[in-house]
Amino acid sequence: MTKPIVVVGSINMDLVARTHTIPRPGETVIGTGFETTPGGKGANQAVAAARLGYPVKMIGMVGEDVFGQALLENLSDAGVGVWAVDRVEGPSGVAPILLAESGENSIVVVPGANGKVDCAYIDKNIELIRGAGMVLLQLEIPMATNARVMEICADAGVPVMLDPAPAAGLPEGVWSKMAWLTPNETEAAFYLGRSTETEAAAKEFLSRSVQGVVLKRGAEGAYVASQVRKDGPGAPSAVGETRAEWVPAFNVEPVDTVGAGDCFNGAFGVALMEGRDPWEAARFASAAAAISVTRRGAQASMPTRAEVEGFLACH
Ligand code: RIB
Repeated sequence: MTKPIVVVGSINMDLVARTHTIPRPGETVIGTGFETTPGGKGANQAVAAARLGYPVKMIGMVGEDVFGQALLENLSDAGVGVWAVDRVEGPSGVAPILLAESGENSIVVVPGANGKVDCAYIDKNIELIRGAGMVLLQLEIPMATNARVMEICADAGVPVMLDPAPAAGLPEGVWSKMAWLTPNETEAAFYLGRSTETEAAAKEFLSRSVQGVVLKRGAEGAYVASQVRKDGPGAPSAVGETRAEWVPAFNVEPVDTVGAGDCFNGAFGVALMEGRDPWEAARFASAAAAISVTRRGAQASMPTRAEVEGFLACH
């Protein structure tokens, strides 16, 4: 039986205001549109993988407000298993987002229920994690919770892909527990303590015992480097050597880049689980992300498998 991808992470309602330009501190600008649309890095990655037809289960929490109900329904409609998503007292996570015409965005995440996903809740769902083919993590739930998930995965031999966003100090000893780390440029600079050329940054992450790294560089593409082999799909591929290559991005006209990185991670996870090598998997993920930026909304923009295959066939 196919082992599911399990996503442990945030579920937010995105409150998106569209503007010509993002206002500076103290400035007021007139917006051109507003929408509430499901988001949250965890839920976005879960929906991205589920739309591609892969079995996905989510561990997380929403509030007992109207957003909570809508977020749960949206996940479930996308095909994500939600029996480990609890409704808890208080508000759901929300993310006020400013989206400029250029595609640039700025996001504030207010955790709400996501902040209540604690280690006890993880232990309650431990069998789900142990039975996963791969676990996807981000940093919008408490850090101690993410550390606990990584520990369980390390003991059970389940590969973990960490999207280290938003950037935050990681606990000691977690680097070697990651099969994949997928920072963007700003996050890579945060974790390395300085801005570093992409290829050198990848080497440095690998030297910290991360097994595989994908440096997401938006329109430039992704730099994929992997080091040590672990058995089973989803793990990095080279044995005792490093293979590192750029996977170029597809050239599309973006209308909304919110959730594009999440789309990449969800699709990358699916492609690895299906046995593609990491560079092929990154090309597949890059096609999915390219489609997603041509549409509005985070979860609303995630493509189906037929759409990704159709896109790849003509690019
Ligand atoms: O990565 C994009 C996501 O970041 C948004 O959907 C928002 O909810 C925040 O979590």
